[in-house]
Amino acid sequence: MTLLHVTGARPNFPKAAPVIAALAALGVRQRLVHTGQHYDDRMSEVFFRELDLPRPDINLGVGSGGHAQQTAALLVGLEEEMLATRPELVIVYGDVNSTLAAAIVASKLGIPVAHVEAGLRSFDMSMPEEINRIVTDRLSDVLLCTSADAIAHLAHEGVPAERIHLVGNPMIDTLLANLDRFDADRMRTQLQLPDDYLVATLHRPGNVDDPESAGELVALLHSAASRADIVLPLHPRGRAVLEALGLDDHPRMHVVEPLGYLDFMGLVRGSRAVITDSGGVQEETTVLGIPCLTLRPNTERPVTITHGSNRLATPATLLPLLDDALSGGVDIPRRPPLWDGRAGERIAEVVVDWLGDRERR
Ligand code: UD1
Ligand code: UDP
Repeated sequence: MTLLHVTGARPNFPKAAPVIAALAALGVRQRLVHTGQHYDDRMSEVFFRELDLPRPDINLGVGSGGHAQQTAALLVGLEEEMLATRPELVIVYGDVNSTLAAAIVASKLGIPVAHVEAGLRSFDMSMPEEINRIVTDRLSDVLLCTSADAIAHLAHEGVPAERIHLVGNPMIDTLLANLDRFDADRMRTQLQLPDDYLVATLHRPGNVDDPESAGELVALLHSAASRADIVLPLHPRGRAVLEALGLDDHPRMHVVEPLGYLDFMGLVRGSRAVITDSGGVQEETTVLGIPCLTLRPNTERPVTITHGSNRLATPATLLPLLDDALSGGVDIPRRPPLWDGRAGERIAEVVVDWLGDRERR
């Protein structure tokens, strides 16, 4: 049997790595597609150098574009790939456009789909990711969930219970497997940072696309930088707008290129707190016990608040929440259930059982 993994954007890679490794350990034949949605070295290639990930068997090179243009290129490229290779199951990750396109193509070709990170909901349809999550889950045959809230959402949407599996979080498998390689001191020396510093990331369209809201956030980050130095590895999406707004024009603001996974996690591990709008970073800080202030009105990852160090922040609450974090006022987090470094193995078991059952039927 052949499984096809579809990846393409930065957050896909640390999620896919432990799943591919666990399936390989069970002797399953696999093929890895990189759609080319992300293509800069620091957004893509660096993960293949640093993580236990095989080289992609093919890179479709779809690149950037508007949603219609990018999704259309993904649909065409993925249909050619799936027609040529006829996998028995397609495994998709997270909520990016590559995920959505793979689910559409596979289901129209009659190929079953397994969705890793199923059932997360922000209930905010202005986010492209929320549309991608809902459609992908609707088309999936095997729904692999990181947290109990995701199961409740799927049940509420009428997904039969036998399709849903609580498996834990493969992103956290990657984090725990590489913990010894996160070198906070090296990053602090390299970037000439004081002992106490913050890390920030920003890339949500709602935060960085519109110069007005981006301008408000730049002013806010400058106020935060007056309290502690901030390192901000800048995602390419917001670069033009944020740089034009003078993001780097503060002596304690260090804007750098996107970092490789090990450097980024090293930096996060040594930080006093993180300010972000990333999905993955909310989860990683939860497990590392680093206070995380999420600059969004909602999160599809509420378990990082109930069981972790995450707090939602608005422009009005960010600075008081940051003061609280810097004075040590954030509770020591508990780790969400099954975020134990073995999600990849559980996913591999579910997938192999599912394929066996299907063959018998
Ligand atoms: C995508 C995902 C988002 C995820 C993020 C992770 C969708 C709809 N969004 O957002 O959920 O959180 O990835 O990082 O799939 N660009 C480059 N180099 C690259 C990649 C992108 O310069 O290697 C620039 C291009 O100008 C591009 C823009 O970034 O137009 C946005 O890229 P895109 O993949 O469309 O969406 P992201 O904002 O990266
Ligand atoms: N990341 C990285 N370098 C960076 C920023 C992020 O390696 O400069 C990693 C980090 O592990 C994070 C993951 O990339 O969880 C996905 O990041 P991103 O914020 O792009 O995607 P999201 O999780 O918001 O979809």
